[in-house]
Amino acid sequence: MSRLAEKSIILGVTGGIAAYKTCDLTRQLIQAGACVRVVMTRAATSFVAPLTFQALSGNPVHLDLLDTEEESAMGHISLARWADLVLIAPATADFIAKLRLGLAGELLGAICLAAEVPIVLAPAMNRAMWSNPATQENVASLSARGVRLLGPADGAQACGESGLGRMMEPTDLCRAVEEFFADKTLDGHSVLVSAGPTREPIDPVRYLTNRSSGKMGYALAQAAINAGAKVTLVSGPVFLAPPKEATLVNVETAADMFEVVTGLAPQHDIYIGTAAVADYTPAAVAEGKIKKHHEALDIRLTRTRDILAAVARLPKKPFTVGFAAETDHLESYAREKLERKGLDMVAANRVGQSQGGFDSDENALWVVWPGGELQLPMASKQQIATQLIELISDNYRAKNST
Ligand code: PMT
Repeated sequence: MSRLAEKSIILGVTGGIAAYKTCDLTRQLIQAGACVRVVMTRAATSFVAPLTFQALSGNPVHLDLLDTEEESAMGHISLARWADLVLIAPATADFIAKLRLGLAGELLGAICLAAEVPIVLAPAMNRAMWSNPATQENVASLSARGVRLLGPADGAQACGESGLGRMMEPTDLCRAVEEFFADKTLDGHSVLVSAGPTREPIDPVRYLTNRSSGKMGYALAQAAINAGAKVTLVSGPVFLAPPKEATLVNVETAADMFEVVTGLAPQHDIYIGTAAVADYTPAAVAEGKIKKHHEALDIRLTRTRDILAAVARLPKKPFTVGFAAETDHLESYAREKLERKGLDMVAANRVGQSQGGFDSDENALWVVWPGGELQLPMASKQQIATQLIELISDNYRAKNST
């Protein structure tokens, strides 16, 4: 059953072109079992007619603060009390600024001010409006007050420009809202996640690296946050925005990652080693750029230190989860790694295929732990991350209760 079943959601729609996508979002929330009441600002009605949302949500659309009939039936206070969550999609720059100031001149602003439930914004605006310091200060201030942000996403915009400012797609928003209602199984616990590739320098301009995008590790960090954990994300160089609630530590080489992770691990309850750490690094880094004087060039490589094995050997070791990237013999290699490195769990994924593994939006995992195993079939990395975090927290609790 979906986590949205029987959840009461106020869906606030403000005046932006992305309001057309909110029609599909309404439909998806309803399909997932949520009860949705749409509240529109006056500007929003210029983009989509209230009747559309009424038909999609199966409830009357709320528009005016000073509608006496509404106020006596389901006014702003009753609406705020009815909801389990207030989701505003799209949230324009203007609405975000008003929300920061606590303005309650329109029904939606008044509901937000009266709401004692979480408020989630899905910003949508031109990329320059989003990056403007005024908007950035507004979102930073709202985040500090506990307002959650979903997006914005990067890409082509209705105005013809391209950049960060698009409203997240309805499917992603619906999934993220569903995650919001996830059980807080890791409440009060801390999780350390490593993500992305490492870069091993050859000379001042060249390095050895791999195809890791960081997507799997970043999704795990987000899923752990959704489960209530305090998360530290140690990341190699990637092109992803980190989850806002995570503490981010950027590193470059396998040696940097070793120092940071082994230093932080004893202060965390769980370590998840998702990073694709280089197994070998150049024995020496050339001081100047290597010139192409010879037909062939030999670079001597030496082994890097194994972060995962070092964490598992710490006197105060966290619950330690390793990944295994394999092209074959997934199950047997995963179990061998579990036992040889003394780990609590190994999540193995098949790599070198068109779907899943490195730099893909999807993944499938074969998860093994002492006394158990489970296959997580191909799904988005965010979904896989949610399932893996559930499995980790079950096993973590079981281990700590014995
Ligand atoms: O980043 P994405 O594009 O989303 O791709 C995700 C992923 C494929 C990188 C991820 O799902 C994954 O499989 N990560 C582990 C990749 C890897 O290096 O696998 P491995 O079998 O070589 O290493 C096994 C484990 O040892 C890993 O947990 C790794 O973090 C760890 N390790 C490896 C070398 C080293 N020096 N220290 C380590 O801790």
